[in-house]
Formats: sequence, C-alpha cells, structure tokens
Amino acid sequence: MTARIAVLGAGGFIGSHLAPALAERFGCEVDAVDVTFEKLVSKDPRIHRRCARVEDAGVVEEVTRRASLVISLTALCNPSLYSTFPLEVIDASFTHLLPLVKLCTERRVRLIHFSTAEVYGRRAMNAAGEPAAEMTEDDSCSLFGPVHRERWTYACAKQLMERVIWAQGKHHGLEFSIVRPFNTIGPRMDYLPGVDGDGIPRVLACFIDQLLRGEPLSLVGGGRQRRAFMDVADMVEAVCRMVERRGPCRGQIVNLGNPANEVSIADLARLLAREFSALAPLARAARFEHVTADEFYGEGYDDTEQRVPDIGKARSLLGWEPRVSLSEMLPAILGDYLERYAGRVASRTSRFEREPERVA
Ligand code: UGA
Repeated sequence: MTARIAVLGAGGFIGSHLAPALAERFGCEVDAVDVTFEKLVSKDPRIHRRCARVEDAGVVEEVTRRASLVISLTALCNPSLYSTFPLEVIDASFTHLLPLVKLCTERRVRLIHFSTAEVYGRRAMNAAGEPAAEMTEDDSCSLFGPVHRERWTYACAKQLMERVIWAQGKHHGLEFSIVRPFNTIGPRMDYLPGVDGDGIPRVLACFIDQLLRGEPLSLVGGGRQRRAFMDVADMVEAVCRMVERRGPCRGQIVNLGNPANEVSIADLARLLAREFSALAPLARAARFEHVTADEFYGEGYDDTEQRVPDIGKARSLLGWEPRVSLSEMLPAILGDYLERYAGRVASRTSRFEREPERVA
C-alpha cells in the first residue's frame, strides 16, 4: 500500500475531511500542504502540515520526491470569484499546477486530481450536443457561455488541466485519475461573509448566513436551477476506494456525486429553513426573496440550469454508492455552523438577537 500520500489543499473543506481518513485507513504518512490549517482539526501524528502555496518555490519538488501518490485539491472554487478574479482563478486551477503534473510524470508519482462538474457547463448534453438528463464522463459534450460571461473561466481552466493530465498519461505514462465532484457539502464548508471571509460563498453558506442574520434567503433567478448534493463522507469513501483500486482507476475520469439528492435551489432553501427552525426555534421565521444574477453576483455571471451526475462509472470502478440523503446531512451541517458561528453572527445582527428576548 501507498507509504506516503501528499494532499495539496489539505486545509480546505474536502481536504480536511480526506487527509485524516487516508492516514486512518491506510496507516500511511500524509503530507498536508495548505496555507491555513484551521479546518484540519485532526491530531493524528501521521499528518505532517506544510504551510505553503503549491506554487511556492520547491514545494512541488519536495512533495513529489517524498510521496508515491499526490492528491491535488487546490483551486479557487467559489463562483463569485470566477468573474471578479478570473486571472487568479485560472492560475490556481491551471498555471500553478503545470509543474506538479510534469514532475509527477517524470518521477512516476501517481496523481489523483480534483477537477470539477463545471467542465460540463450550462447543462448536460450528449455526444451529439442534444440535451440529456445526466452528465457522463466519456460521452457528454460541454456547453459554455461566451467569453464575456466570465463564469466559465474556471470551467475552461479546469478542462484544459484535464487535457494536460490526459495527454501526459496517454503520451508520457503519467498514472492519473481525475475526479469531477458534484456539489459536495458538509461541516466546515465555506466561510460566512463578514465573519471569517469576504464576498459571496457557495449557496449553502449564503443561506445559513441569511438564516443566522434573520435576513431573507436570496434565490438567484427565482431558485429554479437544480443541483444534486453529496455528503462529504460519501466523497471521502469514494476517494479512498480510488486509492485502493489503482489498476482499474488508472487513466479514468470519474464523476462523484449523488443523483438521488437532486433539488431545486428554492427547495434547498426551504429544507434548510425547516431544519434551522427545528434547531433554533426562537429565531425569526425564514423569508425568501428573488434576486437577479446581475444584482447578486454582478456582471459576467452565468449559471448551470441543472447538474446531475451519471455515476455508473464510479459504481462499477469503485463498487461504491453514495449513501447520505439530503435530509440526513442538513441537520449535521447546520449544527456545525450554529456551533461555530451563532455567537459571532448574532453579535452583529439585530433580529436574531431580539427574538429570544421577545419570547422570554
Ligand atoms: C460551484 C463550483 O463552481 C463548482 O466547481 C463546485 O464543484 C460546486 O460549487 C460545489 O459546491 O461542489 P455551483 O453549484 O454553481 O458550483 O455553486 P453555488 O455557489 O453553490 O451555487 C449553486 C446555485 O445556487 C447557483 O445557481 C447560484 O446562483 C444559486 N445561489 C447561490 C442562490 O440562489 N442563492 C445564493 O445565495 C447563492
């Protein structure tokens, strides 16, 4: 089994769940590379934290010298950044990772690279470019908006990186697998704006922030767009199986998501509001408001109408099935956010503070 695994982006949401699971399951040493480790709470002595950016001099050289497997998770993967910091987004997903892919190839280090479901674009299209129900790794076409819709900078950078990795595998022997994650959610996901970060996080953190502040939940474009959400525990299990099933996963691109948890964003808002009122019964009843994408994100945003993964390949390669339903995962995620943030958000807002006093 793999003696040493490097996880690039181990301090992020998925990385902070994955790194301890790898150490535990494989009894291996894990080189955890990131710029911050607040989310990586594990005290496992096999996890070695290296505070650095992947593009810092010597980091990739060091990582590929020590590890026999690199799992690369680093990216700026928040849609509000795609049209506000497009060049940084392209660098993080493409430019900064080129030396890693090259060194993995030269040194015969296995690479499991995290791409994104964004590479499919606005909606699922089959090989003939006709609308389809699900996004399929080796068959679907991609549908991106025009260049002035900067939303697609991330998708294009990620897709080009997939093509570089694929070419290194096909023509120069790189042993790789590529993961396309579909809306993975869980505890310790995004920051809350104005508390421990700025700007607009992904939808879950936006809604939780609004619930905590007693503000209406913003439904962009009315919230008709649909996503299939997967629990991070299902993601971790799939990646561990990918590590184990080395031969079958070689050269494969694999969707990881949970099609059974497909909902509209408006329904997600209602489900979260219901769970929130169960956990915080004294808080103000949730309200919802429709906002346009331009109002919410500014110019250059664009969206995916519907994003459902075909997970047939993951099932057959990994013998894996995502297990956690949306109604099972939401209470744990809300509980985590309430525990970490309720005090900090409440002290900045009037409505959430007032409610308990009125009832008392
Ligand atoms: C994003 C990233 O671009 C993907 O790479 C990533 O894999 C994915 O998140 C993920 O979470 O895994 P997206 O699903 O569009 O893709 O990101 P969100 O910001 O979570 O938005 C989901 C939908 O909710 C979008 O249609 C957005 O317009 C909407 N939204 C967001 C609202 O209606 N209200 C909000 O307050 C925030």
